[in-house]
Amino acid sequence: MSVMSAPVTSATPAGTPPRSGLDHLIRYGGPFPDFLVSRAEGSWLTTDDGRRVLDFTSGQMCATLGHGHPAILEAMREAGGRAVHLFSGFLSHDVIELARELMALLPEPLARAMFLSTGGEANEAALRLAKLNTGGHEVLAFAGSWHGMTAGAASSTYSAGRRGYGPGLPGTMALPTPNPYRCPIAHCRDRCDLACLDAGLGLTDAQSVGAPAAAIVEPVLSAGGIVPLPSGYLARLEQRCQERGMLLIVDEAQTALGRVGTMFAFEQHDVVPDFVTLSKTLGGGLPLSATVTTDAIEADAFDKGFLHVTSHVSDPLPAAVGRAVIETVLAEDLGARAVATGARLRAGLEELQRRHEPIGDVRGVGLMLGVDLVQDRESREPDPAYGSAVTERCLDLGLNVNIVKFAGLGSVLRIAPPLVIAAEDIDLGLEILDQALTDCR
Ligand SMILES: Cc1ncc(COP(=O)(O)O)c(C=O)c1O
Repeated sequence: MSVMSAPVTSATPAGTPPRSGLDHLIRYGGPFPDFLVSRAEGSWLTTDDGRRVLDFTSGQMCATLGHGHPAILEAMREAGGRAVHLFSGFLSHDVIELARELMALLPEPLARAMFLSTGGEANEAALRLAKLNTGGHEVLAFAGSWHGMTAGAASSTYSAGRRGYGPGLPGTMALPTPNPYRCPIAHCRDRCDLACLDAGLGLTDAQSVGAPAAAIVEPVLSAGGIVPLPSGYLARLEQRCQERGMLLIVDEAQTALGRVGTMFAFEQHDVVPDFVTLSKTLGGGLPLSATVTTDAIEADAFDKGFLHVTSHVSDPLPAAVGRAVIETVLAEDLGARAVATGARLRAGLEELQRRHEPIGDVRGVGLMLGVDLVQDRESREPDPAYGSAVTERCLDLGLNVNIVKFAGLGSVLRIAPPLVIAAEDIDLGLEILDQALTDCR
């Protein structure tokens, strides 16, 4: 019988109960939870069985304005009435205005942006531009990095997801993560003297085939366990990159637009990178990302025929939302709010640390904080089992807090609520965490 004339059969043999939609989903990050989310408003989620959950992760670290902020909804409604999507070579008013408004916030010589959808894509574009500009292909990234799941970004993502997918891109190399609580070269304790940078560069220089392109770094490593770059690190890295003819890409997926107090985290380090990539916080929950670079790099790439067209590059609707996000961050002074709310949260976490022995370290910047859970404070041996139990118990009690527990990076509760969160919700979250830490001992 030919394929064309084969009878149409159901995938489910007769007599077997029908599968639910859940059974038809690919599980992309471990098992799914046993509830559905029916609403997300402000700092709160409502599940389909009517439970309320306080969202200490801002969705996937994107909803810095909270869920369903009126400015975002209004921008979507208005932009949707004008144009949602266009031919990739066409531009709209919102795209060119977003570029102008972004550059007004960024220091010179950063002057040119392209707008994509995800963080991985923005990093991919930055890496491709860096390769085209330098003629090299070697890329350095931290051993605790996360830059995305597309091939180039994933090749420079070392915190997780490397095994089982074949080789990463040639020329990608890891630098030690400068975490003073877990010195990667067993050299410092609680204070980084930057020795790990030069030790790491010694290794990558030895491996180099003389084709440097870029170093890509998060100013506060997130999946790497909430590790703010130590004072002086980024400036020294910038200098080391210049010595090697490498371009510096700062990935501000989670840190840009107020979360760490300033508009951009790199501003706190006295450097101006060759590229800044923005994503999560720029769309406030919608898929919008940006690759930003200098006039000189853009002109050189253009002359060399730079090609990076995606279906949703320069789409008008997400650009309108990005404009609304920036306007709201400025109008509501959310950076200052992140500093004030972050101080309240941090004080609460430090108070918990005084009463809960497994809290080895509390660290972070602004409203991006980490709680490092250890088996004992002297050895600092991570306690991933306790961390998982605590996050599960938090969820039972109505708090969504997420744990990162990748090999060598500790087991760290990652706390990044919406910047608009109310003070009493911070206190409530702390109470729930206190309870969960106690219940799981
Ligand atoms: C620092 C950083 N860069 C890039 C990405 C990738 O972004 P996306 O998942 O939107 O591709 C992430 C995602 O978690 C991230 O944390």
